[in-house]
Amino acid sequence: MELIRDADIDPAPLAGRRVAILGYGNQGRAQALNLHDSGIDVLVGLRGGSGSTLEAEAAGLSTAPIESAVATADVVMMLAPDEIHAALYREIEPHLREGAALGFSHGLSVRFGFIEPRVDLDVFMLAPKGPGTALRSLYAEGKGMLAAWAVGQDATGDARGIALAYGKAIGCARAGLIATSFAEEAEADLFNEQAVVWGAVPELLIAGFETLVAGGVSPELAYLECVGELKLLADLIEARGIAGMREVISNTAELGALLGGRRIVDDSVRESMAEVLTEVRAGKFAAELKLEEANGYPRLERARDENRVTLLEETYRRLSDAKS
Ligand SMILES: NC(=O)c1ccc[n+]([C@@H]2O[C@H](COP(=O)([O-])OP(=O)(O)OC[C@H]3O[C@@H](n4cnc5c(N)ncnc54)[C@H](OP(=O)(O)O)[C@@H]3O)[C@@H](O)[C@H]2O)c1
Repeated sequence: MELIRDADIDPAPLAGRRVAILGYGNQGRAQALNLHDSGIDVLVGLRGGSGSTLEAEAAGLSTAPIESAVATADVVMMLAPDEIHAALYREIEPHLREGAALGFSHGLSVRFGFIEPRVDLDVFMLAPKGPGTALRSLYAEGKGMLAAWAVGQDATGDARGIALAYGKAIGCARAGLIATSFAEEAEADLFNEQAVVWGAVPELLIAGFETLVAGGVSPELAYLECVGELKLLADLIEARGIAGMREVISNTAELGALLGGRRIVDDSVRESMAEVLTEVRAGKFAAELKLEEANGYPRLERARDENRVTLLEETYRRLSDAKS
């Protein structure tokens, strides 16, 4: 694997060029501020009446309506939610300059055909591997966040140089840029969201909490055991890897993990994971995402309401109040 770092990257492809950041949310805010602090000419493009206009301007950034931001930019970064990329691209396409670069922080909307970029455009991806809040705070500390990069379309011959210079300007190349493709990044990211960190892990914590409570353990202790220790695990894995983490826990915990971990994550779990990957690659999730947006997000709204009123959440709030 080639890890491209700051010193390997020529900043020239972005020099004297204007970058329009479309969207001032999680990634848009962080990337716009990092670019600005790196001396790039950045303009935040926002829809009329956006509540983010005042916030972006208070942070020292210039803002403009989406169409005019796009019309004056050499690089346009799509940092609005993935499920509205098709509509947003339809809106901006007539205003994109000939030979401009169109950038993404996730491969989904290109991989699954939400967007078919005009043939004269360079198309690249620079996907930080973590939330915008951390991307910004790492940059401010002089550090960076690992990112994946790819070229989807190289109309001018500059797409690679622009992608790498962009990764340098938002600070990611301080940690390293990993080459990928739009398809590989989109599929791996969607798989992980469903089958591993964001989908399966919280459900495992909830199932463990509920099993202990049903077995007569107090909710507070069940929470501390099943949910509260996750940060310790994450910190140890980050610092030492999974094998190193296992070596520093007690023999009791290590033997328990050996016997219990593979009993819970058995062949049936691996089969379900393989199904998730097959479905992701077939575009099933991308279709679900589009449908959810078209219907006004009913499943997400319902799940958010239900999640807030569980015993686990009440316990979390009680323990947080007790700490403060
Ligand atoms: N969240 C992350 O940390 C993360 C990590 C890696 C990659 N990514 C990728 O980064 C991209 C942006 O994700 P995000 O989570 O940062 O998005 P987000 O926070 O949900 O984006 C919100 C911004 O998008 C604007 N927006 C929403 N709907 C719009 C519309 N119909 N037209 C124009 N603007 C609209 C909002 O405008 P208003 O201000 O007017 O409401 C707001 O400024 C996605 O491709 C995502 O996959 C995200």
